[in-house]
This record gives sequence, structure tokens and C-alpha cells, in this order.
Amino acid sequence: MNKLRNAGIIGTGSCLPDKIVTNRDMEKIVDTTDEWINTRTGISERRMTDENTATSDLATVAARRALENAGLSPEEIDLILVATVTPDVMFPSTACIVQDNIGAINAAAFDLEAACSGFLYGLAVAENFIKTGYYRNIMVIGAEALTKIIDFTDRNTCVLFGDGAGAAIVSEVPEGYGILSTYIGADGKGGKLLTVPAGGSRIPSSVESVQNRLHYVKMDGKEVFKFAVKIMGDAAEKALEKCGLDKEDIDFLIPHQANRRIIDASVKRLKMPNEKVYINLDKYGNMSSASVAVAIDEASRKGLLKDGDTIVLVGFGGGLTWGSAVLKWKSIGRN
Ligand code: ACO
Repeated sequence: MNKLRNAGIIGTGSCLPDKIVTNRDMEKIVDTTDEWINTRTGISERRMTDENTATSDLATVAARRALENAGLSPEEIDLILVATVTPDVMFPSTACIVQDNIGAINAAAFDLEAACSGFLYGLAVAENFIKTGYYRNIMVIGAEALTKIIDFTDRNTCVLFGDGAGAAIVSEVPEGYGILSTYIGADGKGGKLLTVPAGGSRIPSSVESVQNRLHYVKMDGKEVFKFAVKIMGDAAEKALEKCGLDKEDIDFLIPHQANRRIIDASVKRLKMPNEKVYINLDKYGNMSSASVAVAIDEASRKGLLKDGDTIVLVGFGGGLTWGSAVLKWKSIGRN
């Protein structure tokens, strides 16, 4: 058998809508307070797409920025993978729309749905395509326009989510660097805890489904919270174990940004100092599959990720799903 290649991230990009919706703005929409949202979640504001912007628009900008960062042309991309729960349309896939927008004429394209774990699922798929030599350059995108499927009369959910997109290009990298391990998992029994009930083949769109507000996110926050606190630590430890490392080896942690209290619990379990944990939840809220992708791009551009650092990415989401990855960082665009 041929030797497996090393897969790693060689470029990143992100895109956030300009419109900022603060907690004070939310106070005017539902019965909530800035104080409640801040203390219960850690969120201060979130970004919101306008009526003319869809998920692919954010994904396209993030993809172009990742290409520029990696120094690649669109023609060099072999596969585009978009993780999203808010595709532009049922089909064609958002990945195909992005492929056309950026002119990646040589790329295959498909969407992947694992809710907030989507980007980590995408990274695991890309890692294996690169390792085996099947593809050379893969664009993995996490992109969401969640405010389009949020019920702005439901205070339990509408304060939590925001819109955005992050992209990473996965390619072959020098030995000793790149993705050391990925770990993904699911528990379909918990599917009902976090769902958009209508608009699929189970409950097709109808006047009744719209009147009953079934096209919006429904969530059992308490149960999701309990699941998240446990799985974030478990998933991070599993990915570390897979590549023979321990929690003491982590230099930087990039967790899914759903709730500050969930992140704090994981940080405590992994014994990480706060300055080595990336948090942007206060500015963007939960952007589902875009969360970790945007966070890596921001952390990289701010120079927080150093050559040789061991970085752990970890997330959880609807499905229920979870995912984690351990990276040995190499400065982007110089591989
Ligand atoms: N403003 C004011 N009060 C509120 C709000 C709000 N926005 N939302 C809920 N409350 C009220 C509730 O109605 C409840 O009132 P009651 O006691 O009179 O019934 C009270 O606050 C407490 O509610 P809890 O559910 O106990 O609040 P909790 O501390 O658990 O926080 C939260 C709720 C923030 C939703 C938390 O459970 C959570 O973060 N869960 C995880 C959610 C998550 O991560 N989801 C994303 C998954 S990723 C994906 O795939 C999309």
C-alpha cells in the first residue's frame, strides 16, 4: 500500500454580515434582557444577513478569502464541501452554487449536514481524501444564515444564533504537521432535542406547517446543554487519544461557540488556561457549522496560532452529533 500523505489546513477565510444585532436590540423583539442573555450564554451581539443574502453568498466570500490566503487559484480546488443546516435551497447543493460563484471548474461539490459539528465532519472527510491521495486541494466551508430559520417570537432560541461563514483549504502538508487525528460521532436518539420539523419529506411545507411555525428551530435547551457539557470533553479527549497525545499537550483550544458556560465546563475538564481558548461567541452567538471555521480563521489572522502548536478543535450539535480534531499547526500559506 502507498504511504498515506499528511493532510493539513493551508489557508482560511471567513465572512460575517455587516449588520450587528445587540442584546439591547433583542430586548425590543422578545421578552428578554441583556443581563439574562449575557449571564446565561455569554452572548452580547450577533450578525444578521439582510433579505437579499443567503448562505452561499457568505460562503463564497469566505472561500475567496481562503483561496487568497493559501495562494491557490479556484481551478486548483478538487472538491468543495459545504457544511450547513441553512442551504440556499433544497437542491442544488450550496456547494454547487459556491463552485459556480468562485469558478472552481475542476471541483466536485456536495453539502454535508451535521448541524454545529458540520465543519468538523467536513474536516474529517477532507483529511481522508487528502491522505489517500484521491484529491490534492479541498475547500471545507461551514456556512449558515441561521437567522432565516429562527423564530423571533421564541426567546428560548432567538437570542442564541447568528449568521456567518468560515472556510479552510485542506491539502498535503509537510510531515509532522497538519491534522493528527479527527473523531466524529452521532446519537440519533437525541434528534428531537434540536430540530426544524417541517419543510422536508416528513412534513412538507403547507399553509398549516407555516401557521404552526414548524419551519423554525425547536430546541430543548436544558437537555442539549447537559449533552454538550459531557460530549465536548469526551470528544476532545478521544481525538487526543487517537494521536497518542494528552490534555497537557494542548497549546490552543478552539471550541464550538454555543454557550460560554458549556465552553467553561470543557476548559475546566481539559485544564486549559483561559488565554489559550478562543472565544468569539460574545460577538457572533452560535453560528452552527460556521462557528469553529470562523474561529480558526480569526485566531490564525491574529497570530494566535504558532508553528508547531497542538490545537484542538471540538464541537457538538443537532443530530445529535459531535466532532473533534487535533492539528499540529504550520503557518498558513507557507506549506
Ligand atoms: N430571556 C429571558 N428569559 C429566558 C430566555 C431569554 N432569552 N430564554 C429562556 N428564558 C427563561 C425560561 O423561560 C425559563 O423561565 P421559567 O423558569 O420561568 O420557565 C428560565 O429562563 C430558565 O430557563 P432555562 O432553560 O433553565 O435556562 P438555562 O440556564 O438552561 O439556559 C439556554 C438556556 C441558554 C438555552 C441553555 O440551556 C443552553 O445554552 N443550552 C444549549 C443550547 C445549545 O447549545 N444549542 C445549540 C446546539 S448546536 C446546533 O446544532 C444548532
